[in-house]
Amino acid sequence: MLRDKVAVVTGAGQGIGAAIAEVFCANGVKVVLAEIDEEAGREREALLRGKGFDAIFIRTDVADENSVKTMVQETVRIYRKIDILVNNAAIGSTKSIFERTFEEWNKVIQVNLTGPYLCSKYCAKEMIKNPGGVIINIASTRAFQSEPDTEPYSASKGGVVALTHSLAVSLAKYRIRVVCVSPGWIETSLWKKSSLKKEPQLRSIDHSQHPSGRVGDPMDIANLCLFLVDQEKSGFITGVNFTVDGGMTIKMIYEE
Ligand SMILES: NC(=O)c1ccc[n+]([C@@H]2O[C@H](COP(=O)([O-])OP(=O)(O)OC[C@H]3O[C@@H](n4cnc5c(N)ncnc54)[C@H](O)[C@@H]3O)[C@@H](O)[C@H]2O)c1
Repeated sequence: MLRDKVAVVTGAGQGIGAAIAEVFCANGVKVVLAEIDEEAGREREALLRGKGFDAIFIRTDVADENSVKTMVQETVRIYRKIDILVNNAAIGSTKSIFERTFEEWNKVIQVNLTGPYLCSKYCAKEMIKNPGGVIINIASTRAFQSEPDTEPYSASKGGVVALTHSLAVSLAKYRIRVVCVSPGWIETSLWKKSSLKKEPQLRSIDHSQHPSGRVGDPMDIANLCLFLVDQEKSGFITGVNFTVDGGMTIKMIYEE
């Protein structure tokens, strides 16, 4: 039963996080949009509220401990509790290892790995008051395989997979489950804030190279998250990673 559960979804102003917020709201969950981008956060809040859903934007930088603490305090002040956390916010970085600065490396690790750690720490302090909580970490298939010049992103996502089983074991005694979802190629153009929203520009080869025959959609991730936060359906699942990539990482690729 998800009605009246309270979820914090980081980076929910746009992209996959926005789809997760939408699906949660449509199933009666109250959603905090913990987003750094003011424009995206306000717009998503208005959109969800316009549909009659209970959602609120709280400006949050997941890489800043004080910002995370304040977001959790605000959430509890407004909704009295936290049942669900989705660590979705992340940034990318594609640059040669010889050009990327130390600051750029640190920034990606802080947002993508330290962020989920901080949000889990402060949300779990509230979640332990109501057994049955769930933390979902959004990693990436790049935790397991790479294109060139993506070291901090891949390393941060590998860290998120490991953080998942570590937290799952630590928080099990509080009846909190922790799971990981690793998306492959997800086309998010239609889920961007309106100033960035555009029609997807996908070629037929983009779709056909996937064993599934298509590129992923944010709803592919959101629907799995919905299943994973439903205690009655997924209560025996914790500590593991789900790859959602249309089969791309199980495909063997040799040059012809
Ligand atoms: N789209 C894909 O193909 C894909 C593939 C694999 C994994 N992922 C993962 O899915 C998640 C969502 O990706 P997306 O494509 O929807 O990204 P996106 O860029 O569309 O959305 C991410 C959101 O996070 C917010 N954000 C960034 N830094 C933040 C911070 N410090 N604090 C709070 N919010 C912050 C951004 O403002 C943005 O609204 C990420 O964890 C990403 O690594 C995406």
